[in-house]
Amino acid sequence: MKTKSILITLFFAIAFSAFGKNGKKEELAFIKENTLFAQQQISLMINALPNPDTANIETIVPYSIDGNDKLATCKKYWWTIGFFPGSLWKLYELSGDKHWLNQAQRWTNRLEYLKTFTGNHDLGFMVYCSFGNAFKLAPKPHYKDIIIESARSLSTRFNPKTSVIKSWNSYKSWDGQTMCYYPVIIDNMMNLELLCEASKMSNNPTFKTIAVTHANTTLKNHFRADFSSYHVVDYDTITGEVKHRITSQGYSDNSTWARGQAWAIYGYTMMYRETKEVDYLKTASAAADYFLKNLPEDGIPWWDFNVGQEGYTPGKNSYALNNPQKFKDASAAAITCSALFELGQLADKPEYIQAAIRMLHTLASPAYRAEAGKNTNFILMHCVGSFAHKSNIDTPLDYADYYFLESLTRYKKFLENN
Ligand code: GLY
Repeated sequence: MKTKSILITLFFAIAFSAFGKNGKKEELAFIKENTLFAQQQISLMINALPNPDTANIETIVPYSIDGNDKLATCKKYWWTIGFFPGSLWKLYELSGDKHWLNQAQRWTNRLEYLKTFTGNHDLGFMVYCSFGNAFKLAPKPHYKDIIIESARSLSTRFNPKTSVIKSWNSYKSWDGQTMCYYPVIIDNMMNLELLCEASKMSNNPTFKTIAVTHANTTLKNHFRADFSSYHVVDYDTITGEVKHRITSQGYSDNSTWARGQAWAIYGYTMMYRETKEVDYLKTASAAADYFLKNLPEDGIPWWDFNVGQEGYTPGKNSYALNNPQKFKDASAAAITCSALFELGQLADKPEYIQAAIRMLHTLASPAYRAEAGKNTNFILMHCVGSFAHKSNIDTPLDYADYYFLESLTRYKKFLENN
């Protein structure tokens, strides 16, 4: 017992040494300042939106900035529609203020229609960030029903022959040469938490079995020897074999798209938490090692780890072909930062917590955190949505803010428990 407590103290001391002179008190003050700032920005954002209870759904959920520097909102089935409600839940978690509970419920309630959506794989993102957080922080039986029904909808995209959930219905490669009819993207790992949770809620193991099967197949087919990841893997529905490995949002088919790698780290960390399957922990750690080893000096990744490098060529229709610029992607950093707070504790590796603390401080610095009332009232600047599609290049994004807030909640819990 005594040895365990010494080890815990040592773990904390190493993790915390990222901070030189700062102690726990200063770090809690850092979290509080960021929480107050986020509350201020998001309040300004809400004040500029129509009434969330009655307005057209496509006008009330912030997504990013449009071409005229105005707020862009989510389309009805846009994959990010759950992140703004999720951010409101995180503000409630961080502040304990009922005002944010009320706001979170208002935006979340508008998303119930999603539960029957089967058009692509994004339901995990859309429903778990909204209703998943709702169920954790202010449980209601109705939320449970929505999560279970959503898991049923998502499961319709699983095929036992391929042993994965189909991400999109089809996809054409950037060089125009390859048509994929069973494309699965690494991002899909993020939809599995909804399935694991739905299994617990419904006592139906099928959802979790699908999640585990998907994670096992992805582990086998989406990674290179150094645990960098491919973005898109296409499957043959007759043989179940891999047909193509290409990219959609990355620089080239053989490159490592930074946000894809972030989803891999987060997804396998979460699947280890849910299953205690050691291979998932190893995968999350190896993917994190790749990410951390290949970061530029300020610790925030370029939008793809291989932009402009020899041996990496974008397809002829990709915007990246004639624009090999290196833009930072703060969204990939925010996702990874949140994942590392969890991974460090699950893997007993204080160096991951150190890396997460450093990343969080960099994101909260003036280089990445907006000035109050600027940046269309989003918190973080300098993200890339999809460079290859020439969309959201060097803009704020709703999911960057969400994972930044989640990182703050995870860091706060870590400090309070150590
Ligand atoms: N599909 C999720 C993403 O763009 O990261």
